Amino acid sequence: MSTPSLRSVGITGLGYYVPARVVTNADLEKIVDTDDEWIRSRTGIHERRFIADDESTADMAEHASRAALEDAGVLPEDVHLIIVATCTADFQFPSTASILQDRLGANCGTFDLGAACSGFVYALVVASQFVAAGTYDRVLVVASEAMSRIVDWNDRTTCVLFGDGAGAAVVQAVSDGSGVLGFDLGADGSGGPLLKVSNQLMPGEKEASPYIVQNGREVYRFAVNIMGESAVRALENAGVEESEIDLLVPHQANTRIIDAAAKRLKLPSEKVFINIEKYGNTSAASIPIALCEAREKGRVKHGDTIVAVGFGGGVTWASCVMKWFDRNHQPES
Ligand code: ACO
Repeated sequence: MSTPSLRSVGITGLGYYVPARVVTNADLEKIVDTDDEWIRSRTGIHERRFIADDESTADMAEHASRAALEDAGVLPEDVHLIIVATCTADFQFPSTASILQDRLGANCGTFDLGAACSGFVYALVVASQFVAAGTYDRVLVVASEAMSRIVDWNDRTTCVLFGDGAGAAVVQAVSDGSGVLGFDLGADGSGGPLLKVSNQLMPGEKEASPYIVQNGREVYRFAVNIMGESAVRALENAGVEESEIDLLVPHQANTRIIDAAAKRLKLPSEKVFINIEKYGNTSAASIPIALCEAREKGRVKHGDTIVAVGFGGGVTWASCVMKWFDRNHQPES
């Protein structure tokens, strides 16, 4: 879809946060039957960050949000809506978004959005509708995930994949022709059992705690197809050619999945951003963290065509094509 709108909408500020604790593949070798070589070659992951015992999903969301608001030059009291994409909320309620609203001192509506790893792009698209329509001027979109709290340490194929972190974006009206040009949102609930959070009692446990269950090979097959397909649909909706892409910012689940998507889009490696080696799969947070780091490295510039594409539990998928708007850009005279 593209948004027939009165206003063009884009990201005007970005921020991210990752916890201080670095957990390397060698660290995991001490707690599960795995090895560094297997994890690197099958996934591309070298290390990930784990949240501290006294840290929460809302804490990470707050750090990322403050950075994004500062980057956009927006005060919390001027935010009109907060959406937090997460599958690891601290509570079923209150929502992480409500906790965040209070922490920031914002005065606005809030809700959490659940689309697993596709959550940030889903939330970005939802936010952009409010701004395009003129209903709200400034929406804070956050993704914050404490995946280490829901991995099953008895499942070595899955537990090595995930890490914790948060990313945030301020969404506002931008100059005509910039910002979100088109998107694709999708879901296939029949694929739900492939990747889910179960509440069943674990062997030896007295109290059930949620943990991720996945059919890795089937999720891999799904992901390899959907990343490319969804990106192509978003490009069509945006009226943008594959050859016009400056940077693909994919969900960081597995470098082999990302390579397949890049091949489908005929993109050379220099047009694909990968940081999975440092953070693993941070679910919904992976795309905003990657976007932020890509911009820091000078790989996202004013006027660039950026494609963000995610997939995840549900199963869900979401892609978005943006012409990047840098609010500090000085037009050449
Ligand atoms: N260390 C060492 N060996 C391992 C490990 C491990 N951590 N895990 C599995 N193995 C072994 C298996 O036992 C198997 O051994 P065998 O051949 O003797 O039986 C062998 O490695 C191969 O196992 P596969 O499962 O076939 O490995 P595969 O190449 O498929 O990689 C992986 C597994 C990495 C999980 C891959 O399937 C994948 O990335 N799937 C997608 C997962 C994903 O992206 N999930 C997130 C979705 S996003 C969200 O919403 C949360």
